[in-house]
Amino acid sequence: MKNIKTGIEILDKLLPYGVPRDNFIGLFGEGGTGKSVILYELLYKKLEMGEPGILVCFEDVPRSITEHMKNFRWDVTKFKNFRFLDCYSFRMETRVPSDLVKIVTRPSDLDSLTETLFDIIDELDMKGKGIVVFDSLTELMTISNAPELVDTIKDWRARGPKERSVNFIASIHYGLKMFNDVVDTFDYIMDGLIDLRYNPEIMKQGFLLKEMRIRKMKGTFHITNWTPFEITDKGMKELKKEKEVEKK
Ligand SMILES: Nc1ncnc2c1ncn2[C@@H]1O[C@H](COP(=O)(O)OP(=O)(O)O)[C@@H](O)[C@H]1O
Ligand SMILES: [Mg+2]
Repeated sequence: MKNIKTGIEILDKLLPYGVPRDNFIGLFGEGGTGKSVILYELLYKKLEMGEPGILVCFEDVPRSITEHMKNFRWDVTKFKNFRFLDCYSFRMETRVPSDLVKIVTRPSDLDSLTETLFDIIDELDMKGKGIVVFDSLTELMTISNAPELVDTIKDWRARGPKERSVNFIASIHYGLKMFNDVVDTFDYIMDGLIDLRYNPEIMKQGFLLKEMRIRKMKGTFHITNWTPFEITDKGMKELKKEKEVEKK
Protein backbone atom coordinates (compact mmCIF):
# COMPACT_ATOMS: atom_id res chain seq x y z
CA MET A 1 0.00 0.00 0.00
CA LYS A 2 1.32 3.41 -1.02
CA ASN A 3 2.07 6.06 1.57
CA ILE A 4 0.91 9.58 0.80
CA LYS A 5 2.36 13.02 1.39
CA THR A 6 0.13 15.45 3.24
CA GLY A 7 1.03 18.41 1.03
CA ILE A 8 1.85 20.46 4.18
CA GLU A 9 5.57 21.24 4.16
CA ILE A 10 6.25 20.91 7.90
CA LEU A 11 4.30 17.66 8.21
CA ASP A 12 5.98 16.19 5.15
CA LYS A 13 9.33 17.03 6.75
CA LEU A 14 8.41 15.24 9.99
CA LEU A 15 6.97 12.32 7.96
CA PRO A 16 9.50 12.06 5.12
CA TYR A 17 8.03 8.85 3.67
CA GLY A 18 4.43 9.98 3.95
CA VAL A 19 1.45 8.56 5.84
CA PRO A 20 -0.02 5.09 5.21
CA ARG A 21 -3.53 5.39 3.77
CA ASP A 22 -4.94 3.00 6.35
CA ASN A 23 -4.10 5.17 9.37
CA PHE A 24 -6.58 6.71 11.80
CA ILE A 25 -4.76 9.74 13.23
CA GLY A 26 -5.52 11.74 16.36
CA LEU A 27 -4.51 15.40 16.54
CA PHE A 28 -4.17 16.40 20.21
CA GLY A 29 -3.74 19.85 21.72
CA GLU A 30 -5.04 22.63 23.91
CA GLY A 31 -7.48 25.22 22.62
CA GLY A 32 -5.98 27.64 20.13
CA THR A 33 -2.95 25.49 19.22
CA GLY A 34 -4.23 25.17 15.65
CA LYS A 35 -6.04 21.82 15.48
CA SER A 36 -8.92 23.09 13.36
CA VAL A 37 -6.71 25.03 10.96
CA ILE A 38 -4.45 22.00 10.42
CA LEU A 39 -7.47 19.79 9.70
CA TYR A 40 -8.79 22.37 7.21
CA GLU A 41 -5.40 22.54 5.47
CA LEU A 42 -5.02 18.75 5.31
CA LEU A 43 -8.50 18.52 3.81
CA TYR A 44 -7.95 21.29 1.29
CA LYS A 45 -4.60 19.91 0.15
CA LYS A 46 -6.19 16.51 -0.41
CA LEU A 47 -9.07 18.03 -2.42
CA GLU A 48 -6.52 19.93 -4.53
CA MET A 49 -4.88 16.59 -5.31
CA GLY A 50 -8.19 15.57 -6.89
CA GLU A 51 -9.20 13.24 -4.05
CA PRO A 52 -12.56 13.22 -2.23
CA GLY A 53 -12.94 14.71 1.26
CA ILE A 54 -15.45 14.96 4.11
CA LEU A 55 -15.43 17.43 6.99
CA VAL A 56 -17.43 16.13 9.96
CA CYS A 57 -18.05 19.23 12.06
CA PHE A 58 -19.29 19.16 15.67
CA GLU A 59 -18.29 22.64 16.86
CA ASP A 60 -19.44 25.07 14.19
CA VAL A 61 -21.79 25.49 11.21
CA PRO A 62 -20.55 24.74 7.69
CA ARG A 63 -21.28 28.33 6.60
CA SER A 64 -18.87 29.87 9.12
CA ILE A 65 -16.25 27.16 8.58
CA THR A 66 -16.40 27.89 4.84
CA GLU A 67 -15.90 31.60 5.53
CA HIS A 68 -13.04 30.92 7.96
CA MET A 69 -11.34 28.74 5.34
CA LYS A 70 -11.67 31.48 2.73
CA ASN A 71 -9.35 33.64 4.90
CA PHE A 72 -6.69 31.14 3.90
CA ARG A 73 -7.97 31.06 0.28
CA TRP A 74 -9.09 27.46 0.82
CA ASP A 75 -12.41 27.46 -1.02
CA VAL A 76 -13.83 23.97 -0.47
CA THR A 77 -17.12 24.78 -2.22
CA LYS A 78 -15.50 24.52 -5.66
CA PHE A 79 -14.85 20.79 -5.29
CA LYS A 80 -17.57 18.37 -6.46
CA ASN A 81 -16.18 15.54 -4.32
CA PHE A 82 -16.34 17.42 -1.03
CA ARG A 83 -19.08 17.14 1.63
CA PHE A 84 -19.80 18.54 5.08
CA LEU A 85 -21.33 16.14 7.58
CA ASP A 86 -22.94 18.71 9.83
CA CYS A 87 -23.25 17.50 13.45
CA TYR A 88 -23.70 21.01 14.82
CA SER A 89 -26.83 22.51 13.24
CA PHE A 90 -29.13 20.11 15.10
CA ARG A 91 -28.87 22.68 17.92
CA MET A 92 -30.33 25.44 15.73
CA GLU A 93 -33.88 26.25 14.66
CA THR A 94 -32.97 27.01 11.07
CA ARG A 95 -30.99 24.34 9.32
CA VAL A 96 -29.79 24.67 5.76
CA PRO A 97 -28.99 21.40 4.03
CA SER A 98 -27.64 21.51 0.47
CA ASP A 99 -25.87 19.32 -2.06
CA LEU A 100 -22.72 20.09 -0.08
CA VAL A 101 -24.08 19.74 3.46
CA LYS A 102 -25.67 16.69 5.01
CA ILE A 103 -27.18 17.47 8.43
CA VAL A 104 -27.25 14.85 11.19
CA THR A 105 -30.34 15.48 13.33
CA ARG A 106 -29.19 13.42 16.33
CA PRO A 107 -25.41 12.91 16.41
CA SER A 108 -25.67 11.32 19.87
CA ASP A 109 -27.24 8.35 18.06
CA LEU A 110 -23.85 6.93 17.14
CA ASP A 111 -25.17 4.02 15.03
CA SER A 112 -27.13 6.32 12.79
CA LEU A 113 -24.21 8.79 12.64
CA THR A 114 -21.96 5.92 11.51
CA GLU A 115 -24.40 4.83 8.80
CA THR A 116 -24.76 8.40 7.48
CA LEU A 117 -20.99 8.84 7.43
CA PHE A 118 -20.38 5.63 5.49
CA ASP A 119 -23.22 6.39 3.06
CA ILE A 120 -21.36 9.57 2.09
CA ILE A 121 -18.01 7.73 1.97
CA ASP A 122 -19.52 5.25 -0.50
CA GLU A 123 -21.35 7.95 -2.47
CA LEU A 124 -17.97 9.68 -2.98
CA ASP A 125 -16.45 6.32 -3.95
CA MET A 126 -13.72 6.63 -1.31
CA LYS A 127 -11.62 3.53 -1.76
CA GLY A 128 -7.85 3.84 -1.57
CA LYS A 129 -8.24 7.61 -1.78
CA GLY A 130 -9.57 10.59 0.12
CA ILE A 131 -9.66 11.95 3.64
CA VAL A 132 -12.24 12.30 6.42
CA VAL A 133 -11.56 14.93 9.11
CA PHE A 134 -13.46 15.18 12.42
CA ASP A 135 -13.51 18.44 14.43
CA SER A 136 -13.65 17.53 17.24
CA LEU A 137 -14.07 14.15 18.92
CA THR A 138 -14.10 15.98 22.26
CA GLU A 139 -17.38 17.62 21.32
CA LEU A 140 -18.77 14.19 20.42
CA MET A 141 -17.62 12.95 23.87
CA THR A 142 -19.80 15.58 25.50
CA ILE A 143 -22.97 14.25 23.82
CA SER A 144 -22.39 10.48 23.95
CA ASN A 145 -21.36 7.95 26.57
CA ALA A 146 -17.74 6.85 26.76
CA PRO A 147 -17.86 3.06 26.20
CA GLU A 148 -20.23 3.42 23.26
CA LEU A 149 -18.05 6.14 21.73
CA VAL A 150 -14.87 4.07 22.08
CA ASP A 151 -16.63 1.19 20.33
CA THR A 152 -17.82 3.54 17.57
CA ILE A 153 -14.28 4.85 16.99
CA LYS A 154 -13.10 1.23 16.66
CA ASP A 155 -15.84 0.60 14.07
CA TRP A 156 -14.90 3.74 12.14
CA ARG A 157 -11.25 2.65 12.08
CA ALA A 158 -12.19 -0.82 10.83
CA ARG A 159 -14.65 0.32 8.16
CA GLY A 160 -12.76 3.45 7.00
CA PRO A 161 -8.96 3.31 7.15
CA LYS A 162 -8.66 -0.49 7.34
CA GLU A 163 -11.42 -1.66 4.97
CA ARG A 164 -11.40 1.22 2.48
CA SER A 165 -7.86 2.68 2.91
CA VAL A 166 -9.18 6.17 3.60
CA ASN A 167 -7.26 8.40 6.00
CA PHE A 168 -9.28 9.50 9.04
CA ILE A 169 -7.95 12.42 11.12
CA ALA A 170 -9.68 13.66 14.27
CA SER A 171 -8.92 16.54 16.61
CA ILE A 172 -9.05 15.97 20.36
CA HIS A 173 -8.91 18.73 22.94
CA TYR A 174 -6.27 18.11 25.60
CA GLY A 175 -6.72 19.02 29.24
CA LEU A 176 -10.35 18.24 30.06
CA LYS A 177 -10.01 16.07 33.17
CA MET A 178 -13.46 14.49 32.81
CA PHE A 179 -12.41 12.89 29.50
CA ASN A 180 -8.92 11.71 30.51
CA ASP A 181 -9.84 8.01 30.44
CA VAL A 182 -11.38 8.17 26.98
CA VAL A 183 -8.45 10.18 25.63
CA ASP A 184 -6.04 7.55 27.03
CA THR A 185 -8.05 4.89 25.20
CA PHE A 186 -7.72 6.82 21.93
CA ASP A 187 -3.92 6.72 22.39
CA TYR A 188 -3.96 3.00 21.91
CA ILE A 189 -6.77 2.69 19.35
CA MET A 190 -5.31 5.20 16.94
CA ASP A 191 -2.55 4.45 14.43
CA GLY A 192 -1.07 7.90 14.53
CA LEU A 193 -0.78 10.56 17.24
CA ILE A 194 0.18 14.16 16.51
CA ASP A 195 0.63 16.53 19.46
CA LEU A 196 0.32 20.30 19.42
CA ARG A 197 1.36 22.49 22.36
CA TYR A 198 2.60 25.87 23.45
CA ASN A 199 6.31 25.66 24.31
CA PRO A 200 6.29 25.56 28.16
CA GLU A 201 9.58 27.47 28.67
CA ILE A 202 8.61 30.30 26.36
CA MET A 203 5.15 30.42 27.94
CA LYS A 204 6.81 31.24 31.31
CA GLN A 205 8.19 34.38 29.65
CA GLY A 206 4.68 35.34 28.60
CA PHE A 207 4.73 34.30 24.94
CA LEU A 208 2.83 31.62 23.07
CA LEU A 209 4.94 29.58 20.65
CA LYS A 210 3.11 26.77 18.88
CA GLU A 211 4.95 23.46 18.48
CA MET A 212 4.08 20.09 16.99
CA ARG A 213 5.51 16.60 17.14
CA ILE A 214 4.63 13.19 15.75
CA ARG A 215 4.26 10.97 18.83
CA LYS A 216 3.36 7.84 16.90
CA MET A 217 2.76 6.90 13.25
CA LYS A 218 2.27 3.25 12.48
CA GLY A 219 3.98 1.86 9.41
CA THR A 220 6.31 4.73 8.60
CA PHE A 221 9.42 6.53 9.82
CA HIS A 222 8.80 9.81 11.63
CA ILE A 223 10.70 12.54 13.43
CA THR A 224 9.57 12.96 17.04
CA ASN A 225 11.17 16.35 17.89
CA TRP A 226 8.97 19.24 18.99
CA THR A 227 8.99 21.55 15.98
CA PRO A 228 7.92 25.20 16.25
CA PHE A 229 5.38 26.51 13.74
CA GLU A 230 3.12 29.47 13.12
CA ILE A 231 -0.21 29.85 11.43
CA THR A 232 -0.06 32.44 8.64
CA ASP A 233 -2.72 33.48 6.13
CA LYS A 234 -1.29 30.72 3.91
CA GLY A 235 -1.58 28.00 6.56
CA MET A 236 1.04 26.22 8.67
CA LYS A 237 4.65 27.32 8.39
CA GLU A 238 7.67 25.93 10.22
CA LEU A 239 9.40 28.54 12.39
CA LYS A 240 13.14 28.31 11.86
CA LYS A 241 15.28 28.91 14.95
CA GLU A 242 16.63 32.47 15.19
CA LYS A 243 20.23 31.19 15.22
CA GLU A 244 19.69 29.38 11.95
CA VAL A 245 18.25 32.52 10.43
CA GLU A 246 21.22 34.57 11.72
CA LYS A 247 23.72 32.11 10.23
CA LYS A 248 22.10 32.58 6.82
N1 LIG B 1 -7.26 33.74 9.40
C1 LIG B 1 -6.22 33.47 10.17
N2 LIG B 1 -5.01 33.96 9.87
C2 LIG B 1 -3.94 33.70 10.64
N3 LIG B 1 -3.98 32.93 11.75
C3 LIG B 1 -5.15 32.40 12.09
C4 LIG B 1 -6.32 32.63 11.33
N4 LIG B 1 -7.31 31.97 11.92
C5 LIG B 1 -6.78 31.36 13.00
N5 LIG B 1 -5.49 31.63 13.11
C6 LIG B 1 -4.57 31.14 14.15
O1 LIG B 1 -5.00 29.86 14.53
C7 LIG B 1 -5.22 29.83 15.95
C8 LIG B 1 -6.50 29.04 16.28
O2 LIG B 1 -6.40 27.83 15.73
P1 LIG B 1 -7.56 26.78 15.84
O3 LIG B 1 -7.27 25.84 14.72
O4 LIG B 1 -8.88 27.41 15.87
O5 LIG B 1 -7.23 26.12 17.25
P2 LIG B 1 -7.88 24.87 17.95
O6 LIG B 1 -8.78 24.23 16.96
O7 LIG B 1 -6.71 24.04 18.35
O8 LIG B 1 -8.58 25.42 19.15
C9 LIG B 1 -5.40 31.24 16.36
O9 LIG B 1 -4.95 31.37 17.67
C10 LIG B 1 -4.54 31.97 15.38
O10 LIG B 1 -3.21 31.98 15.86
MG1 LIG C 1 -10.84 23.93 16.95
